[in-house]
Amino acid sequence: MEIFVTKSALSASLDELKKQKKVIGFVPTMGALHDGHLSLINIAREQSDVVVCSIFVNPTQFNDPSDLEKYPRPVEADIEKLKSVNCDILFLPPVHEMYQQGESWHIDLGYLEHILEGKSRPGHYQGVTQVVKKFFDIVKPDIAFFGQKDFQQVLILRKMTEMLEIPVNIVMCPIKRESDGLALSSRNIHLSEVERRNALALSAALQTTKDHFQEKDLASLKEEAVAFLNASEGIDLDYFEIYDAATLKPAESKEIESIIALVAARSGETRLIDNMILN
Ligand code: PAJ
Repeated sequence: MEIFVTKSALSASLDELKKQKKVIGFVPTMGALHDGHLSLINIAREQSDVVVCSIFVNPTQFNDPSDLEKYPRPVEADIEKLKSVNCDILFLPPVHEMYQQGESWHIDLGYLEHILEGKSRPGHYQGVTQVVKKFFDIVKPDIAFFGQKDFQQVLILRKMTEMLEIPVNIVMCPIKRESDGLALSSRNIHLSEVERRNALALSAALQTTKDHFQEKDLASLKEEAVAFLNASEGIDLDYFEIYDAATLKPAESKEIESIIALVAARSGETRLIDNMILN
């Protein structure tokens, strides 16, 4: 695996591969890699000739400075994991390689930016779109792979690429879970044993909602999930919503093609998100 820390060295190497008409697959991450990230690399491996992964803890998408500070950065272990899944290229830029001092940037993402994660983490999606746009400009991937775990992020990035006419195919990959249902996340590392056990309430609420989807109406499904989460030990619920997966507007009927339940909550100090398609 080749490792680049500058844009210019990475671009030079990728330009050569593009001349050879190689299909470039790209998996952006913030590191602290787990099997969820590695599943994205494996899917990229199947669909592209060259797999590029980036590890960059993007400061502009953190609205909470202490969250940024405590974000895990086990770079050596990450490099070994990427080698084990045959990643071809790792881009590991320092902050000054990605951002000019005093840089300001804004893209109007409309409704999608002001709900769910956007509402709870003001400015978060400006930071995400900023950095992913920069990565797309540098890597110019044919295909970029993102996890359903961050469902709203995928919709926002699809919208950004349409608005800016960026010629990249965005592929959404399934959520990897522990055997007990907990969605893998770099933040799980912060959970104590008890907090981890309490955190199972999120995936349990989603799974129960899915299991009861046929027999109950949407309002009751939401009400019961919210009541369950509010009664769950050590869980501080932010939101549980049942939305039309195409628009992220409240699902008005069960006839909608794809209906998704999305949840965010704290277990102890750690904020967790999860989601599940219900139909
Ligand atoms: P990060 O949280 O490191 O996630 C990188 C990618 O891994 C995202 O596409 C995310 O959805 C996916 N992922 C995380 N957990 C997963 C799981 N359990 N199963 C499957 N995929 C999972 O998302 C980001 O970084 C950043 O916002 C980024 C896009 C890199 C921009 O900074």
